[in-house]
Amino acid sequence: MSPRARREVLADRLAEEGAPDVALGGNGPGADTHPARPRSEGPGPGPRPVDPIAVPAEEADDAGLRPRTLSEFVGQGQLTEHLRIVIEAALKRKQTADHLLFAGPPGLGKTSLAGIVASEMGAGFRITSGPVLVRAGDLAALLTDLQDGDVLFIDEIHRLHRSVEEILYPAMEDFKLDILIGKGPTARSIRLDLPRFTLVGATTRTGLVAGPLRDRFGFVGRLDLYDVDELQTIVTRSAGILGVPVDEDGARRIAERSRGTPRIANRLLRRVRDFVEVRAEGTITSGAAVEGLDVFGVDELGLDKVDRAILDVLCRRFAGRPVGLSTLAQCVGEEPDTIEDAYEPYLLQQGLLQRTARGRVAAPRAWAHLGLSPVESTLL
Ligand SMILES: Nc1ncnc2c1ncn2[C@@H]1O[C@H](COP(=O)(O)OP(=O)(O)O)[C@@H](O)[C@H]1O
Ligand SMILES: [Mg+2]
Repeated sequence: MSPRARREVLADRLAEEGAPDVALGGNGPGADTHPARPRSEGPGPGPRPVDPIAVPAEEADDAGLRPRTLSEFVGQGQLTEHLRIVIEAALKRKQTADHLLFAGPPGLGKTSLAGIVASEMGAGFRITSGPVLVRAGDLAALLTDLQDGDVLFIDEIHRLHRSVEEILYPAMEDFKLDILIGKGPTARSIRLDLPRFTLVGATTRTGLVAGPLRDRFGFVGRLDLYDVDELQTIVTRSAGILGVPVDEDGARRIAERSRGTPRIANRLLRRVRDFVEVRAEGTITSGAAVEGLDVFGVDELGLDKVDRAILDVLCRRFAGRPVGLSTLAQCVGEEPDTIEDAYEPYLLQQGLLQRTARGRVAAPRAWAHLGLSPVESTLL
């Protein structure tokens, strides 16, 4: 069946349902944002300089800095190696690549990798996200509109509605779309052929991706926080693209405070660039970077005031006792999800926080970072 015929069948079906116009999640602006997630700014005014989630105003800038090919993509060595093999094998067989799932905290390069897969495959790239696909028809319309070989990227795939997910299963497995025509005793189901496509899913939480969905991906790639060397390379690369002079130590200072996250590295670079421009200094040196980041409340571990507030709650307010996630979130004025997705991974990686069966606990390094001694403070 031609794409046009597929669309017509679908249109009839939607008309019968009395469904309003189908909203397609296209490549439009905001496709990479997280619409349903309440954005909290943390205590005090101004956006958070170390938020791993992009603020809308940043997205255009981000796009310019996005790596376009696997060789431009810094770090995640094992993952990119595996991807290279998956892509080369598919190209050799002249087939689409397996469906791919990328998992990892925000800002580590999942969306970038999805785009890279499309460009390395020489394929079209369509972007949507779990929360945008409200009804089964939304996804059906998107699927029937695909061209042969396209890469369809579904961000936040763990937030897909159940009814939408059910459409996805036969589409992923057999490239078929099951549509029910008519109602009652005369209802019949027809199967439409879909073009072959590669689904790339991204999630910040593999645990929340339903088992049957996860099983339908041929490849699951986990992105880890980046080390300082890799981030330094990313800062240097981005500075080159932005035309900002930065020396090695300056790039290093920014990298050290970027919480293992390229998106944060790029943001801190822009902040420091503004700072040196205002001060009419030409180059981002070590001194300028440190001074600039101090102004924005980012300390030498890359912690901002919310991170320090979290550690402060654990050490001082609860005197080192375990604290439940929702209590902790409430104390610092954030959503539990935000604490878990955006703050904890880095605090855990840095050995500042521990998760125990009874709750979150400050690690010895946290006490030291706040200039407290664990023994003395448990007596508070
Ligand atoms: N490996 C990398 N090398 C260079 N830049 C990167 C890398 N990963 C991410 N970035 C930068 O970080 C920004 C955020 O990455 P993105 O792919 O949007 O992350 P995610 O989708 O995981 O939240 C991108 O605009 C890009 O500039
Ligand atoms: Mg993304």
